[in-house]
Amino acid sequence: MRIKRNFSNDWYYKADFKEEYILRDSGVKGFSPIRLPHANKEVAYNYFDEKDYQIISCYKKKFTIDNRFKDKIILIEFEGVMTACEVYIDGKFVGEHRGGYVPCTFDITPFIDFGEESILTVKVDSTEREDIPPFGNVIDYLTFGGIYRDVFIYILEPTYIDNVFYRYEIEDDIVKMTPIVYITSDEEKNLNISLDLDDKSFEWNIDIEPGEKQKLELSPIEIEGLKLWDIDNPMLYDVVMTISCEDSVLDNYESKIGFREIRAEVDGFYLNGRKVFLRGLNRHQSYPYVGYAMPKRVQEKDADILKYELGLNLVRTSHYPQSPYFLDRCDEIGLLVLEEIPGWQHVSDREDWRNCVLSDVEKMIKRDWNHPSIIMWGVRINESGDDHELYTKTNELARSLDPTRPTTGIRCLEKSEMLEDVYGMNDFIHDGGEIVLRDQQKVTGLDHKVPYIVTEYNGHMFPTKRFDNEHRLIEHALRHAVIQNEAQLREDIMGAIGWCAFDYNTHCDFGSGDRICYHGVMDMFRIPKWAAYVYASQVSPKERIVLQPLSHWSVGDRNQGGVSPLVVLTNCDCVEVRVEGKGREKFYPDIEDYRGLAHPPITINLKFGEWGVGWGDLELVGYVDGTPVISKRYPKNPYVYKIDVQADHKKLYADRLDATRIVCKVVDQYGNLLPYLNQVLHIETEGDIEIIGPKTVSTIGGCIGFWVRTTGENTSSEAVVTVYSDRCKEERVFIEIMD
Ligand code: GAL
Repeated sequence: MRIKRNFSNDWYYKADFKEEYILRDSGVKGFSPIRLPHANKEVAYNYFDEKDYQIISCYKKKFTIDNRFKDKIILIEFEGVMTACEVYIDGKFVGEHRGGYVPCTFDITPFIDFGEESILTVKVDSTEREDIPPFGNVIDYLTFGGIYRDVFIYILEPTYIDNVFYRYEIEDDIVKMTPIVYITSDEEKNLNISLDLDDKSFEWNIDIEPGEKQKLELSPIEIEGLKLWDIDNPMLYDVVMTISCEDSVLDNYESKIGFREIRAEVDGFYLNGRKVFLRGLNRHQSYPYVGYAMPKRVQEKDADILKYELGLNLVRTSHYPQSPYFLDRCDEIGLLVLEEIPGWQHVSDREDWRNCVLSDVEKMIKRDWNHPSIIMWGVRINESGDDHELYTKTNELARSLDPTRPTTGIRCLEKSEMLEDVYGMNDFIHDGGEIVLRDQQKVTGLDHKVPYIVTEYNGHMFPTKRFDNEHRLIEHALRHAVIQNEAQLREDIMGAIGWCAFDYNTHCDFGSGDRICYHGVMDMFRIPKWAAYVYASQVSPKERIVLQPLSHWSVGDRNQGGVSPLVVLTNCDCVEVRVEGKGREKFYPDIEDYRGLAHPPITINLKFGEWGVGWGDLELVGYVDGTPVISKRYPKNPYVYKIDVQADHKKLYADRLDATRIVCKVVDQYGNLLPYLNQVLHIETEGDIEIIGPKTVSTIGGCIGFWVRTTGENTSSEAVVTVYSDRCKEERVFIEIMD
């Protein structure tokens, strides 16, 4: 029976590398104790030098595998090491891996003395090596460094399961499944294989040869009565594959799977036979200070934000495979995923680089093929030029590994060779003028329509900071609305994925010069800009009521003053405007201009008074089915009232690196963010947590976020985060640290 243990605690780290570190006797002097996920260098929020983390560093871990396991196989799996690593045990070379976004596994059995302490040393190269994608030219994002995802250790019998692909199709509500299993064995064996799914069991008997990762296609089975996985009802099943020989169980391999039928057609995307317009945003997996190194809970929270705060039904993992925790969460909550290989515009002619692309395709698919949320494999380097040879191979490889999902290739060029099943286009044509999206056939240059998806828009065409002027924030939001609207009206576009969900750190060649690309509909702390509400307001009011005016309600912030037209993003049927408590008219969604949107913006053309006259407190009341369901108030004379401090999670685990975000908003007397307040905040913690990043921060446009992480004192206790400033009373958040 397999034993799987998290191996992410009790590591040692040093921000340099010397050959002597590999030697067993070199010890850990000068190394710092750390836990994974880990950033090789923590960086500032902005204006830092990206060269700081482009270093070669060293990680070590002492461990002992008990003598009782001496007949077993011991594997170590790294879920993500940026960008290349060499692994040694007690001075002996075990293996190496290139590529920072896919996992690597090493069989360390021959290198350990069972019952004795072993020292694992990992040389981590986080430089931008020309032999590894995405490197070789400039890229508009930072890749950071370190062992930034979890590590696991496996103790296995000499015959074990490497991987299982639950390949299936659905016909007349019956799941027809052909499990593909990969088995490693030290000897010839006759195996019984059983599969337990729901209350059903299936069995096979097969002979295997000695060898590694032998691919076996089991005879097909038919399963009736399963519920389908869908975005509204993401039904998942626990499934266990067990292999045994002469009545002794050798391995049991657990997965969570879901069953759904997908079709990418010329006229749209179909999920379980129903046409679904794919409304999405691109996600970079980076965070302030620690780059990529955020644990499970924080990864999951991003998926929740995309689904529940932004109301999306799809995310594109631009531009690489992302955390398994993030993808697991997408499965759990019903958020579709377009996943793609690492890369950005550049295709190298180096053979090692090109081989790495193929290995990325294979590793991405073999890691993620059981996720029901993943609906497409991106097998072309984002926005690269044509490369017939390479992309013929990536497509063939993807289709041979997984014939159940369409491939896509995402480009920004017109008339590029279409080797994929779905043509992906980053369409940045819209500059605020009349033209909103390109014509499909002009883009493809083909004489017929193909399955087609818009994979990016907006981004660099209109970078917008959360604390920008009202005019710009409105224009930013409306550009997102206009493009989503147009995409939904076009019969030959299956979805539109905006650039992008969250602002992200980038190289000095891109962004606003401070190492940030302000292209998100949320900032790096995942605090919304107004454009976020374009997406959020598209969900049914039965799910959530959304009402967001695109104004700070101030008389003189716009050119020439006033707030007219006042645009409100909402999923209410109508909005009533009251000034100084006096009810005025009701206003309705602009269905003329936004026929494609489920909930168009409401545009209010009223004169609300002027300098010193007629201006008062505003109240917006949203109605659904004739009933008032939400009211928002904005004061005429806002003042600093308090710091609103909210933690995403109030319970964290002590026994692993666990973290939660805390958002601090300085609000007015009605609870609204004060958008131009830059206020120093001091953060203090008591108990077994620490702040990620600086302890003294300034709000940026009225608010700021930060994350706290557990310190690993294995106690069950209460921790406290205190936030104070010289203008507001202190606020405290209590966090339970669980065993
Ligand atoms: C695209 C690219 C993205 C991002 C975006 C900015 O060309 O694919 O990664 O750089 O531009 O708008």
